[in-house]
Amino acid sequence: MSKTKIIIANWKMKVPHQGAANLLRRFSHLSFPAGIEAVVCPDFLALPLAAKTLSLRKLKLGAQDAAFIDRGAYTGEISPTDIKSLGATYVILGHSERRQYLGETDALINKKLQAVLAVPGLIPVVCVGEKARGKNPKAVLQKQLAGAFKDIRLKPGQRLVVAYEPVWAIGTGRVIKRSEVVLAHLLILGWLTKRFSPTQCQVLYGGSVDAKNAANFSDISVVDGLLVGGASLEPKSFLTICRSMLK
Ligand code: 13P
Repeated sequence: MSKTKIIIANWKMKVPHQGAANLLRRFSHLSFPAGIEAVVCPDFLALPLAAKTLSLRKLKLGAQDAAFIDRGAYTGEISPTDIKSLGATYVILGHSERRQYLGETDALINKKLQAVLAVPGLIPVVCVGEKARGKNPKAVLQKQLAGAFKDIRLKPGQRLVVAYEPVWAIGTGRVIKRSEVVLAHLLILGWLTKRFSPTQCQVLYGGSVDAKNAANFSDISVVDGLLVGGASLEPKSFLTICRSMLK
C-alpha cells in the first residue's frame, strides 16, 4: 500500500517576523491536492500565528526543532508538549544546519527524539545526510541512524519520518542524481525496517528541490515525500512541488 506523501516547507530563519503574517495568509489561500500531506514549519515565534491563520485540516504544522526534555530549568529551550499544544504535528530534528552551527550531535538528537516521541501525536522528522558528495554516504548514514535511533522503540500506531538531506545539495542548486537518491533511500529504509514496522516509517528527500525538478522524484517508490527549503518560501512554487509529487 502506498503511503500519503509528505511535503514539508522548512522556512528556516528566512522570514522576518513582520513578513510571517502575510506569507501565512498566502499559504492559507492555496488548495493542496488530496493524496499529499503538506506541512509548514515556520520559526517558533510564528508558530502560534500559523496555527491561527492556517486551516490545520488542509495543511499541517511543524516545528524546526525541540528541546531534549519536556519541562524544567532549560533556558531558551522549547518543550515538545508545548509544540504539540500549539497545533504542530511534526518536529524536524537534527537538521544539518543545527549539526553544523549549533554543534548538535547524534547523542543529543537521540535525546530530542525520545522527548518528541514521548508526546502523543507528535511525529519526528530526523535529518541525516553526508557532507561531501560521494564520500562514503553509506558509513555516514549508518552512523547517524545508529546514533539518533539508539534504544528507540515505537508504540503501535506511532510514526517516524527520516529526511535524507545530503549537505552538499542544500541551498546549492546541485541536483542529486536519481541513482544517488535511490541508493541512499534504500539504505535508510532497509535500516529502519529492520527495527520498526514499514508502515510506521517514511523517508523524505531534501536538498535544492524546486518547482522545476520536483517531478523527478515523483515516481521513485522509495521517496515518500520532500523536505523543501528555499523554494517553500514562494507559495506558488510550494504548491507546484506538492502537485508534482502526485504525477
Ligand atoms: P533547500 O531546499 O533550500 O536546498 O534546503 C533544503 C533543506 O535544508 C530543507 O530542510
